[in-house]
Amino acid sequence: MKKSKTGFVCQHCGYMSPKWLGKCPSCNGWNCFAEELLPEPESGGRAEMKFGGNPMPIEEIPVQEGERAITGIVEIDRVLGGGIVNGSAVLLGGEPGIGKSTLMLQIMKNLAQAGRKVLYISGEESASQIKLRSSRIGASAKNLLVLVEVSLERILEQIKATSPAVVVIDSIQTVYSADLMSAPGSVGQVREASSRLILFSKKNNIPVFLIGHVTKDGSIAGPKVLEHMVDTVLYFEGDSGHAYRIIRSIKNRFGPANEIGVFEMQDKGLQEVPNPSAFFLAERPQDVAGSVVVPSLEGTRPILVEIQALVSSTNLGMPRRTAIGVDHNRVSLLVAVLDKICGLHLGGSDIFINVAGGVRVEEPAVDLGIVAAMASSFLDRPIDSHTVVLGEVGLAGEVRAISQMEVRIKEAARLGFNRALVPKTKLSHNTSGPRMSVITVNSLRELLENLF
Ligand code: TYD
Ligand code: MG
Repeated sequence: MKKSKTGFVCQHCGYMSPKWLGKCPSCNGWNCFAEELLPEPESGGRAEMKFGGNPMPIEEIPVQEGERAITGIVEIDRVLGGGIVNGSAVLLGGEPGIGKSTLMLQIMKNLAQAGRKVLYISGEESASQIKLRSSRIGASAKNLLVLVEVSLERILEQIKATSPAVVVIDSIQTVYSADLMSAPGSVGQVREASSRLILFSKKNNIPVFLIGHVTKDGSIAGPKVLEHMVDTVLYFEGDSGHAYRIIRSIKNRFGPANEIGVFEMQDKGLQEVPNPSAFFLAERPQDVAGSVVVPSLEGTRPILVEIQALVSSTNLGMPRRTAIGVDHNRVSLLVAVLDKICGLHLGGSDIFINVAGGVRVEEPAVDLGIVAAMASSFLDRPIDSHTVVLGEVGLAGEVRAISQMEVRIKEAARLGFNRALVPKTKLSHNTSGPRMSVITVNSLRELLENLF
């Protein structure tokens, strides 16, 4: 590689600047620029693509669906969109200690036991530490090779020499290339190491998993700048204090995004949770104000989550609004709507919203659940424990339609709920069955009338 000029790179977001800056114009971080050698821009484009062709009709382009390797862990196969695609690059991000290495080792064990040669490259732990962990989770297989290495050049050499079916790099932040002068873990190094590993994997059709650490605020150099380079991005949600771990596909070129896999951390590694709704609702309090269940849709799968709200009066001039698992701004908006439209004056109350189980639900369909939970807590009136609510709330207090109502209602019925308060939409007839009465509500007022 030609070494030509240096530049200053933001260690948070990868923004490049020819001179040093105190504040990053892209991510607004302070004091985060480090000088790095900028690699000569390569010929451009991606390794697996050929350039310089002529336009051709889309019907004549040959289909090259890569072969998929099934990991045998159902939850992982699903978030990957049906197994590991040949030559794909997958980024697995998460906070330190959440279980990335454990999960990868379990996946590799399964692949190795299925007769594939897999190479697990670690720059974080010694071989004996990996061995210890593997005997704990029962991951010993002849085809599972372990290499402790941090130098990019030697890693590539070793992959060439062993030609494995799958490669894992644990973690991408420890890999460094001697071609760059910046420190391991800096944006420059992470970007360089990943792009060369991905290039190599595409050329040789070897799938590669890159493990990347992300801190709570998602800042530390690395994963964020890699997202556009890889085919699939998986993130661990929840925190290591909880027993369960949720893996979400943020981006997937080979399957639906936003799909989640649920695991529980046990003494023998991560165990799949095949029925997450029951799992998330297991500890739900009965007949307590401020709790309601919402059938949320995560990827293609409906999952029931419990939304809890605590509304308590405060003497502070600026009441607190805390939201865990749902969008903070959304909560503020819903508080205002409740206040203005329904006359519930929440201005003098602290409000805390929590989604039990550590899941994050981003979709607007949970709006009605948030409103119902807040109203229930404020009025101190419990919501019937066999009722689910779902719908988006508009600024005028109207309840708006949401997608895929049937699957959600079906999942709720399966778990023993018998009443659903939903927006008015064209429902197919079979949703309101003997065990489930579906009630349409058009406005928040109607919701409150039906609930209390
Ligand atoms: P680890 O995979 O090392 O996390 P990461 O690679 O994301 O940093 O896993 C970390 C935690 O998991 C560690 O705190 C111990 C716990 N753990 C278990 O509870 N059971 C197990 O069987 C294993 C292997 C780990
Ligand atoms: Mg690790």
